[in-house]
Amino acid sequence: MAFDPEGRLWVEFARTVVSAAPSPIALAVDADGLLSDFGQTAQQAALQPQDPAAATTGTGSPAPGTTAPGAGAAAPDDVDCAVVVCAALTFGDGPVSKTVDLLDVLAEKGVPATFFVVGTNARTHPEILARMAAEGHVVGNHTLDHPQLTRLSESEIAREIEATSDLIEAAGAPRPTLLRPPYGATNDTVAAVAADLGMSQINWNVDPEDWKDRDSAIVTQRVLANTKNGSIVLSHDIHQSTRGAYAAIIDGLHEQGFTLVTVPDLLDDLEPGQTYYSRG
Ligand code: NI
Repeated sequence: MAFDPEGRLWVEFARTVVSAAPSPIALAVDADGLLSDFGQTAQQAALQPQDPAAATTGTGSPAPGTTAPGAGAAAPDDVDCAVVVCAALTFGDGPVSKTVDLLDVLAEKGVPATFFVVGTNARTHPEILARMAAEGHVVGNHTLDHPQLTRLSESEIAREIEATSDLIEAAGAPRPTLLRPPYGATNDTVAAVAADLGMSQINWNVDPEDWKDRDSAIVTQRVLANTKNGSIVLSHDIHQSTRGAYAAIIDGLHEQGFTLVTVPDLLDDLEPGQTYYSRG
């Protein structure tokens, strides 16, 4: 609930509240006669133009276009995706040098994400993994060099996963408990190895095919049209067109009422070896 620029009450219902609605419903209501004393004070405060700098106290906020070290993108700890409408943004195949541009966008928007990194890229850019972890993102495992795991032996699968977890940990991020098998390809053998290593398999249910159509507007349209409550969204931070899409995607998902969280915050009680495509 908020006040609009005319001082009317702006009341939003999440999709989970009005379950038949295809998108969140919002109403502007004339507030006159409805407000308590406190409500009138809040209404007045909302209508006063404010200098944002005057509202900050203590250490102050970073200047526009800059990111305070360790400022972080973590969502509040108390987000409960059983109650609010959530989705998780996930990025695979990086990091590349330009992944920092996406980290800047996520920091500016205050959105945490989950990055499934390839070990050979993690070895080249350990400082980017350290930044991801410091800013509240989750670093997951996308194997050492992106093979189709279903074609490998148990010992080869284990080596792909463990070598990558070693590199992630060496970079300063927590040892991952999330595995995204390349191409989403898994079977009983991959699941058994993942279970042995204490890792859950994380696939997706929203795929904008950003590798195919290298067009920010198309990627944005597909994510905004297909993300539902509980969705895991697949993208690849190695593409400029994808990195360039995410400011608009995040704004659009926020307008639709989504709270954007990491995969562990989206999915309660992750089971090693299990494969997940979405919440619920
Ligand atoms: Ni991949």
